[in-house]
Amino acid sequence: MPNIEIAVVPVAGLGTRLLPATKSQPKEMLPVGRKPVVQYVIEELTRVGVKQVLFITGPGKTSIENHFDLNGELIQTLRETGKEDLLAELAFERKPVQYFFTRQRQLLGLGHAVLCAESFVGDRPFAVALGDSIIGLNAESDIGQRMAQVFFAQGADAVVAFERVPQDEVHHYGIAKPKNGGDIFEIADVIEKPSAAEAPSNLAIAARYVFAPKIFDALRRTKPGKGGEIQLTDAIRLVLREGGKVIGMSLRAGERRYDIGNFDAYFRAFVEFALADEKYGAAFREYLQTLMR
Ligand code: UTP
Repeated sequence: MPNIEIAVVPVAGLGTRLLPATKSQPKEMLPVGRKPVVQYVIEELTRVGVKQVLFITGPGKTSIENHFDLNGELIQTLRETGKEDLLAELAFERKPVQYFFTRQRQLLGLGHAVLCAESFVGDRPFAVALGDSIIGLNAESDIGQRMAQVFFAQGADAVVAFERVPQDEVHHYGIAKPKNGGDIFEIADVIEKPSAAEAPSNLAIAARYVFAPKIFDALRRTKPGKGGEIQLTDAIRLVLREGGKVIGMSLRAGERRYDIGNFDAYFRAFVEFALADEKYGAAFREYLQTLMR
């Protein structure tokens, strides 16, 4: 079975819902537990065999570039000061993956961010993983591999991950109209941020996609939609309207999506990861219990 070797990771957004935390640092670099969010995303991708990652970046995002670079000076300092045990914390720098960066020079939406990857991706299938969303506690998910398997086995034009959300939250997400039930389903339509009344289900797009390169042609023809942005959901809709095959895949039980786009979700994610921390989790739980008394 072939694998998906290229991933596009959009990180160009301004993260305005997390101001002031994101005034001079990218939201994708905010820590959840011990690591920045985007490190979990890259670890998830490299675990399933991705070899090239293209970040779609913008001004103020250079700390992401630095984070994934080898920092020889830091390594040397740790050695010289007898802190060899901390070198393990930098092991992610040595993952067998090549990083590429391009700027989305106008913030015209997620669809436009993905379109910036066209000349890099060429005619290869590729994954898209949003840089502000972790799948599964500690990113222990093989969703990318499962999506790639379905993509090739079914000859799909796109495979999209979904998570069920409460009905009163559907207006925050792209929502699927599935053709059939089950955890892997064909999609009849996708609607960006519908009202609860318009929403055909509560299956919300969960930050992971696999695409055939034909998505670029659809993106080029996609007009600005909700919020005046070029929406990736609208391009998927165009692929569907033109007879394309789009498959949905539900996250498994326990494989939640942690989207840190607003403080409510960010606080929850941080606390959950901190509680699950091997070293600090137990003491943190006790501390929280004292606060709750
Ligand atoms: P969001 O819409 O949640 O991010 O996009 P945002 O625009 O940064 O958020 P707010 O509304 O201002 O708080 C989800 C992901 O897509 C990227 C973001 O960086 C984020 O990782 N994105 C979004 C882009 O790369 N370019 C865009 O034009 C929009």
